[in-house]
Amino acid sequence: MFKKILITSGPTLEPIDPVRYISNRSSGRTGYYLAMEARMRNLGPVTFITGPTVHLPTQVEVVQVETAQEMRTAVGGHFRSSDVIIMAAAVSDYRSMKYYPDKMKKSSERITLELVKTPDILLEIGRHKRKNQILVGFAAETEDIFANAQRKLLAKNLDLLVLNEISDANPAFGNEENQVYLVRPDGVRRLDKMNKAHIAAVIWDDIVSLAGHS
Ligand code: C5P
Repeated sequence: MFKKILITSGPTLEPIDPVRYISNRSSGRTGYYLAMEARMRNLGPVTFITGPTVHLPTQVEVVQVETAQEMRTAVGGHFRSSDVIIMAAAVSDYRSMKYYPDKMKKSSERITLELVKTPDILLEIGRHKRKNQILVGFAAETEDIFANAQRKLLAKNLDLLVLNEISDANPAFGNEENQVYLVRPDGVRRLDKMNKAHIAAVIWDDIVSLAGHS
């Protein structure tokens, strides 16, 4: 059905010194299920680019990376030849400006770590997206979730945004279950709380229907 499917998954890990890093609570489950579902439905060859996670799909091409910069390079090598691109990775938004090659000493009571933005891979891809490519992004929001989602959909030139509302009732990150909204330029659909394998199946139903209409 598709020539090539590109999926990013997992967190990225931004080193500070040889033993410390900045990361987030992403488990990599949703990306894993998206890859497995694509394989099960025989939707096309999958390239799976992931940060550190135990959730590695089988019988697909797996590229393991650590940092946002490495993920960007890996994505750059694949995105032109892909007709479906799903960016499920929770890319760290910031990294330490400096890498300390020697382990930082705990000498003073307070220290300041200067952080710099990582490249927004999805934003870059959105700018270069071609008409025959379907681009899917994820968002995790805690406030003004729909306004932010619509803004991201436009800014990143997405066909579909999977929106997580992060709250105590729905931590999303690290859990087996999640409650999401599927946000498209033509409207928003709320999905019931369900396991991430099931969410992956519904996302693929949406992508397949989008492809039918393009
Ligand atoms: O802007 P925000 O980080 O909320 O957007 C989330 C979406 O953008 C996800 O699909 C994520 O994979 C992608 N992203 C990215 N590079 C970044 C930050 C986010 O590709 N540096």
